[in-house]
Amino acid sequence: MSDICKNWTEWLKKNRFAGQTPEMIEQTTKWLEAVRDVILVYAEIKPYETILDIGCGTGLLAFKALELQECKGKVIFSDMFKDCLDDCKKILDESGVTEGYEILQTPVEHIALPESTVHKAIMRSVLVHVVNKQPAINEIYRVLKPGGKLCAFEPVIRSNTRYWEILDSDYIDRYEDFKHAENEIMENPLDSLCNFDENTLRTNLEIAGFSIPEVKLQEVRSSYVVQENMVREWFVNPPSPNQPSTKQRFLRYFEEETVEKFMAQVQEYLTGRTISLKTNAVFINATK
Ligand SMILES: C[S@@+](CC[C@H](N)C(=O)[O-])C[C@H]1O[C@@H](n2cnc3c(N)ncnc32)[C@H](O)[C@@H]1O
Repeated sequence: MSDICKNWTEWLKKNRFAGQTPEMIEQTTKWLEAVRDVILVYAEIKPYETILDIGCGTGLLAFKALELQECKGKVIFSDMFKDCLDDCKKILDESGVTEGYEILQTPVEHIALPESTVHKAIMRSVLVHVVNKQPAINEIYRVLKPGGKLCAFEPVIRSNTRYWEILDSDYIDRYEDFKHAENEIMENPLDSLCNFDENTLRTNLEIAGFSIPEVKLQEVRSSYVVQENMVREWFVNPPSPNQPSTKQRFLRYFEEETVEKFMAQVQEYLTGRTISLKTNAVFINATK
C-alpha cells in the first residue's frame, strides 16, 4: 500500500502531465483550476461549514475551500493514501496554517465519519478509481447532513475519442484487431475507469437517496499537433498508479512485438498531424 501511496503523489505531480508540451501543461493546469472553481461555485461554501474533500490528492480542491472559508469552519482533507495527506500537511505547515482543517485517512467506500456531519462533500476524479461506485456514493450520502451537497467532477473515459478513430485502416497493420481490442478495453465492466457514464452515475445518486441530482455532461474538444515520442508517453504512462498502462492492456490481446509495431505505426502516422480529441466529463451537483 505504501508504494501505491507514494506513487499517487508522484503521479499527481508528474504523470498527469505525461507526454504534454509546456503549452499543454499550462492548458491542463488552467483547466484543472477551472474545474475546481466550478465545483466550488456549486458547493456555495459558507463560513462555519464542514467541508469534506474526498480523495483530496495534493489538495487541489481543499486548499481553495480553505481559502474561501478563511479558516472559519472546517475543511477535511481526506484520502485513502497517507502520502497524499502528508503532502497536504507539509504545505499547510509551510504556509503557517494551524486551524480550520482536519486530515483524515479514509477510503470513500467506508468514510470514517459519523452520519450527517458534513455540509458539503467535494470531489474530483475519485469515483473513476473505484470499481463499485454505488457503495461509495451511499457513503457520501450517509455522512452529509440533510440539505448537504455533493459537488463533484468525474471524467467519462469510455466516451472519449479512441485511437482507432484517429488512425487510417490502410496504414496500420491489424487495424481491425486493434479496434476490437480497444473497444473491449474501453467497455470492460470490471475496470473502474470505463465502467460508468453520466446515466449510471445519475442512477447511483438516485439509489443512494439524492433527490433529482444534477449530472451535467461536458464534452471538450481539443486539437493539437502530435510530436515525436508522444505516442510512447500515451501508451506507457499508467492512467493512475495502480492501473495498467494502455500498452499493458493491449498486451492482454497481442504479443509484445505486435504492440510495439502498432505503437511505432501510430507514432509514424500521427507525427506532425493535427488531431482533434473529444473528452467527456460530468459535473455533479446533488443535494441530500
Ligand atoms: C486523480 S486523483 C485526484 C486528486 C484530487 N482530487 C485532484 O483533483 O487533484 C485521485 C485521488 O483519489 C484518491 N483515491 C483513490 N481511490 C480512493 C478511494 N477508494 N477512497 C479515497 N480516495 C481514493 C487517490 O489517492 C488520489 O488522491
